[in-house]
Amino acid sequence: MLVTRRLPAAVETALRESFEVTQEPSDRPLTERELAAAMRDHDALLCTVTDRVMAPCFEGPGVRARIVANFGVGVNHIALDAAARAGVVVTNTPDVLTDDTADLAILLMLAVHRRAGEGERALRAGTWTGWRPTHLLGRRLTGRTLGIVGFGRIGRAVAERAQRAFAMPVVAWTRTSPPESERDGVRFVASLDALLPEVDVLSLHCPATPETRHLIGARELARMRPGAVLINTARGDVVDEQALVDALRAGRIAGAGLDVYEEEPVVHPGLVDRDDVVLLPHLGSATRETREAMGMRAVENLRAFFRGDAPPDRLLGAATRP
Ligand code: DGY
Repeated sequence: MLVTRRLPAAVETALRESFEVTQEPSDRPLTERELAAAMRDHDALLCTVTDRVMAPCFEGPGVRARIVANFGVGVNHIALDAAARAGVVVTNTPDVLTDDTADLAILLMLAVHRRAGEGERALRAGTWTGWRPTHLLGRRLTGRTLGIVGFGRIGRAVAERAQRAFAMPVVAWTRTSPPESERDGVRFVASLDALLPEVDVLSLHCPATPETRHLIGARELARMRPGAVLINTARGDVVDEQALVDALRAGRIAGAGLDVYEEEPVVHPGLVDRDDVVLLPHLGSATRETREAMGMRAVENLRAFFRGDAPPDRLLGAATRP
């Protein structure tokens, strides 16, 4: 199989124990042409979010690979319909990254409200002159109303943390929300339009699909409360970044905490120099524990497939919920 990126050592060892592995030594994202070639020359591909495994990878008579095992839960970078048409199995790694990604969403909420990025930058720049009662006053997170878009595993884990640790009332919207219902202390509303004006913090946890592209744009940002904060640990595509920059500049919302971007690793320049925005480099699942668990889950999927069993995390030609 071809493994596109370097993986935690224990995962690479486990892969080599079971398979003949070709590993891309440069540890850089492969081009679409290289990925298509990999699909012709190998029985399996182990890829990551940085590899765009688009339709041409699955088309044509020379495609040899029968399985694409993604290291990660989101699969918007893989042409699932083309894979399904070609009969290529696609797997992902759900569950194991839920807690760490939820933790990071909370970290961003805290960092934006408590101005942690600004404070850290000032200290390192040597401009901190010492404690004073009015220095860098932020806003309390505890008790603010949290809105969750997408109530899958990660959305639910964020809601639990917000409720238990920060006494935050939680309102949620998903495409499958039962209209105006309540479950586990979370109130579900029937539409995104209904959710937006109700919340102080809006946290995104839906998958990137054609339907969710720019789900949060100028119109939605205008419906949010003026003091509200946007948190995105899902996928950059879900937010129209230009509209977000415009809304921040106009003071229509109070800030944003982002871990994902429309054109990673490029970040909209209008975000980079804003003090009311906290920017992280796609770190949601980036703990040693989770990255190892993600790798082992990919190994399990591959082992099951080549044993002739159903891989535990097989996707069926449609986007998965994170
Ligand atoms: C995921 O698992 O989807 C993370 O964003 C890394 O790809």
